[in-house]
Amino acid sequence: MQRIAICINRRFGHNTSCAQRGSVALADAFEAAIAARGLSLKVMRLPCMGACEIGPNVKEVGGDIWHEVSEADIPRILDELAQP
Ligand code: FES
Repeated sequence: MQRIAICINRRFGHNTSCAQRGSVALADAFEAAIAARGLSLKVMRLPCMGACEIGPNVKEVGGDIWHEVSEADIPRILDELAQP
């Protein structure tokens, strides 16, 4: 099954991290959009990917990575993931 990893790390003592930029809600929104499309795509919620300043970060396992992802980007990213 195709998988994407979404960083849900919160860096306490810092003002930049994926969770502080809404990545938990983003992961929920990805799951809802995936279910709505009936896709076979699993969302994994992971700790820091080392790109905290440009999060939220979403990575296809074995593939592309997207930075500064918002819920508005979800349809485009799902379209890209569906490409062979
Ligand atoms: S907090 Fe998401 S990459 Fe570090």
